Amino acid sequence: MTSPATDADFLLRLDEIIAAHKGREGPLLPILHYIQAEWGHVPEEAQPVLAAALGMTRAEVHGVVSFYHDFRDHPQGRHVLRLCRAEACQSMGADALAEEVRAALGIDWHETTPDGRLTLEPVFCLGLCACAPSAQVGDRLLGRANLAKVRQLVAEAGA
Ligand code: FES
Repeated sequence: MTSPATDADFLLRLDEIIAAHKGREGPLLPILHYIQAEWGHVPEEAQPVLAAALGMTRAEVHGVVSFYHDFRDHPQGRHVLRLCRAEACQSMGADALAEEVRAALGIDWHETTPDGRLTLEPVFCLGLCACAPSAQVGDRLLGRANLAKVRQLVAEAGA
C-alpha cells in the first residue's frame, strides 16, 4: 500500500475533511474517524496539518491518536478480523479459538496476511457476551464463533 503522502490528492482531501467538521464541538475525534475511513489509518503526515487547523500541538494530536486503540497509525489489510478476548468469551474458549485462527491464517495479533487482505486484531467485548465467543469482520458480527464460522465470515467479506 502506498503512503497517502505520495498521493497528489492527499492534502486536498484532508483539507476537505477538516473543513467539513472543524466547526463541530470537539472536532478532533470525528475528524480522525473520517480520516481513518478515508485512508484506512491515520497517516502521520495528517497529524501536523490537523494540529495546525485545530490550534493544537502535534503532541496533543499524536497523544489522542495513540490513546484510542481504534485509530491505527499504519495501513492494515483490506479487512480486519477482530476476535474478542474479554472475560465472557474467554470462559467459552476464546483463547483456543484464537490459537486456531492464528494457526490457520499464519499470522499473530496485529499482523496482516502476506496478500494484504486480512489483519487480525484483538477486541475487548463486542457486547455479544451471551453468545460467546464472538468475532467481527467489518460491520458483521459473529456469535458462538468457531474456526469454521470465522472462515465463512471472512470468506463472505471477500477477504
Ligand atoms: S466478552 Fe466477548 S463479547 Fe463480551
